[in-house]
Amino acid sequence: MDVFKHISVVLGDITTMDVDAIVNAAAPALLGGGGVDGAIHRAAGPGLLQECRKFGGCNHGEARITAGYNLKARHVIHTPGPIYRGGQFGESQILKNSYRNSMLLAKEHGFKSIAFPAISAGVYGYPKPEACQIAITTVVDFMKAQQFFIDVVFVLFDQENYQLYVDYLASLKAIPVQ
Ligand code: APR
Repeated sequence: MDVFKHISVVLGDITTMDVDAIVNAAAPALLGGGGVDGAIHRAAGPGLLQECRKFGGCNHGEARITAGYNLKARHVIHTPGPIYRGGQFGESQILKNSYRNSMLLAKEHGFKSIAFPAISAGVYGYPKPEACQIAITTVVDFMKAQQFFIDVVFVLFDQENYQLYVDYLASLKAIPVQ
């Protein structure tokens, strides 16, 4: 199975995506915030925050799932990515965990589609090129290892991130599929 047939990259607003789940780059408190977290809570409405309260927070790299409320997406997967502190504090593993645990929840729920923002690449300060490579390779490796093929859309909010994802994906496709 060619995993790359299932992966796409778009420039846009993740709150408009009509998928089984959109992933929220959340804060550990899971009580909303700025950036994509704020946009998702605004679009979903107050029911989302109400459901998030039941978790009592979530560690960096872990993931929790809720309904999508007023969003087109049926569910929201909330995952706090790592706060980037220079790269010597396990940030890359935590970012991998955020993508992996989100994919795990999608698999457990039998989802057919999922949309990711660029987790930690905003307020949390993760260098964009490395965050892009971790995002795509973690998702690709998960699908191959688990033989779980779900339509994955990486939704970028700015041209720089969008071009990084397009270019990196093209470089991986150029490698003959093993
Ligand atoms: N759709 C898609 N992507 C978006 C949207 C949107 N509507 N709004 C912002 N983004 C992008 C940002 O441009 C960035 O590339 O999401 C990426 C992640 O940035 P942040 O939202 O700042 O998330 P992160 O870097 O993971 O920091 C999380 O910020 O908003 C707070 O509560 C959040 O404390 C948490 C922290």
